[in-house]
Amino acid sequence: MLEVEGLHAAYDRVEVLHGVSLTVGAGEFVCVIGANTAGKSTLLRCISRLIPSRGRIAFMGEDLARLPAHRVPGLGIAHVPEGRHVFGGMSVEDNLRAGGYALGRRADLETPLERIYALFPRLAERRDQLAGTLSGGEQQMVALGRALMLSPRLLVLDEPSHGLAPIVVAELHRKLVEIHKEGVSILLVEQNVAVSLAVAERGYVLQSGRVVLEGRAADLAADDRVREAYLGI
Ligand SMILES: Nc1ncnc2c1ncn2[C@@H]1O[C@H](COP(=O)(O)OP(=O)(O)O)[C@@H](O)[C@H]1O
Ligand SMILES: [Mg+2]
Repeated sequence: MLEVEGLHAAYDRVEVLHGVSLTVGAGEFVCVIGANTAGKSTLLRCISRLIPSRGRIAFMGEDLARLPAHRVPGLGIAHVPEGRHVFGGMSVEDNLRAGGYALGRRADLETPLERIYALFPRLAERRDQLAGTLSGGEQQMVALGRALMLSPRLLVLDEPSHGLAPIVVAELHRKLVEIHKEGVSILLVEQNVAVSLAVAERGYVLQSGRVVLEGRAADLAADDRVREAYLGI
């Protein structure tokens, strides 16, 4: 479904991705793990065409490399960026509706809204509440729900668990598993190595802009190099 091959990206001519290759198959749940500054967010920004890059990026056979960022959601890729960026002064429901903006003015927003409320009953209860007054975990659910308004085929998530308590992270990841079961492919980027390897099927370890290890999530979690470097075991 998503094929990235030999991807290079730079900021002000300083290269930070040095030939990254990865794939996400249809219906797969893949994670990219790596320490702070490894290049995880940069990789996702390249896929969403938010920054220029060199190398091949194809989605459902379509070459993304030449597409402008505003065309990406229409192809079925929804990107939940780092940080939650909810519109704090707007209600939960208006935040969700804003996620459907790219679908155009006449789009049916009621069907995806009902689906999101079924998935996140807590958001349904708080639909009229200002998003800025929600807890961090609830705000992350709003950010996730907003991305789901596009009924994406591929959900791309940048450190959704950042700054959340372990119990909230567990709940969030259970929701991701549910979304995945509904048929959405997921590319999850996390510093939180143990938890992401527990939910994903396959993973890549990104280190200083290079993929240094890849494999089934269970194998990575058992790999001595991963355990030493990321799990402190
Ligand atoms: N907007 C930016 N301008 C310049 N350098 C950046 C920018 N964003 C990230 N970088 C640099 O690119 C490298 C990779 O960063 P990033 O992709 O944010 O890593 P991660 O998400 O894994 O923490 C880091 O060295 C970081 O300092
Ligand atoms: Mg990042």
